[in-house]
Amino acid sequence: MERMPGRVLVIVPTYNERENLPLIVKRLRAALPDADVLVADDNSPDGTGKIADELAGEDRQVRVLHRPGKQGLGTAYIAGFQWGLDEGYDVLVEMDADGSHQPEELAKLLDAVAGGADLAIGSRWVPGGKVVNWPFSREFLSRSANTYTRIMLGLPVRDATAGFRAYRATTLRKIGIEGVQSQGYCFQVDLTLRTVRHGLRVTEVPITFVDRTIGASKMGRSVVTEALWRIAVWGVTGIPARLRRKR
Ligand code: GDD
Ligand code: MN
Repeated sequence: MERMPGRVLVIVPTYNERENLPLIVKRLRAALPDADVLVADDNSPDGTGKIADELAGEDRQVRVLHRPGKQGLGTAYIAGFQWGLDEGYDVLVEMDADGSHQPEELAKLLDAVAGGADLAIGSRWVPGGKVVNWPFSREFLSRSANTYTRIMLGLPVRDATAGFRAYRATTLRKIGIEGVQSQGYCFQVDLTLRTVRHGLRVTEVPITFVDRTIGASKMGRSVVTEALWRIAVWGVTGIPARLRRKR
């Protein structure tokens, strides 16, 4: 990495990731020793929250946000962003706990931010981006979600649902995260749309997404349903603005 773009907080949301969390925190702390880590746990029944507390007890750069129960990936990130903004971090990173996002690739995202991006997205679907070990059904779902999103919203982004990202704090302040209502994974599209609609600069960086080897995905039917209807609503409410721009 050329230079750290200020103080960096990496937010790692967890729900039943007891085996994955220590591994990912270790890799992250080795890859980026200057970055701080915030685990946002939703009172995981498997005791991930307690493991997070133990990690925090051994390392001052690891902190934990405990939430009372499973409230969705989107709200976990919003809570983490709010905490990080209050603490004065300059860059806020999103990263999954299950090893799909490789901490060793985070420097590329931070380089993009240092180079002027308001939002850097670790992208599977740009040239050089890859997916390893995903079953065909998941790859199909992700590609379909991105095609649907592109048709509905016309976003100039190939991987709008990606969950490996670096936001400038100024970006989050401008787009107003307190108004975000998305609870599940569609929050990724929500924030991408807000960033683009504010005229901010989005850069996609190719990454290799590696499917988890431990534990299970939390992607369920309610996550997909929420994404389908919310993206349709954003598409329709955005039409007047797009027509104005064309004229
Ligand atoms: N705190 C909290 N609360 N964490 C959650 C919740 C929740 O309700 N739901 C999921 N997580 C955590 C998981 O523990 C994991 O660390 C991370 O969020 C991603 O969840 P996965 O269940 O592993 O997601 P995935 O692999 O199916 O989906 C990936 O692809 C999506 C679509 O492209 C992720 O990268 C998503 O971010 C991405 O939107
Ligand atoms: Mn995963």
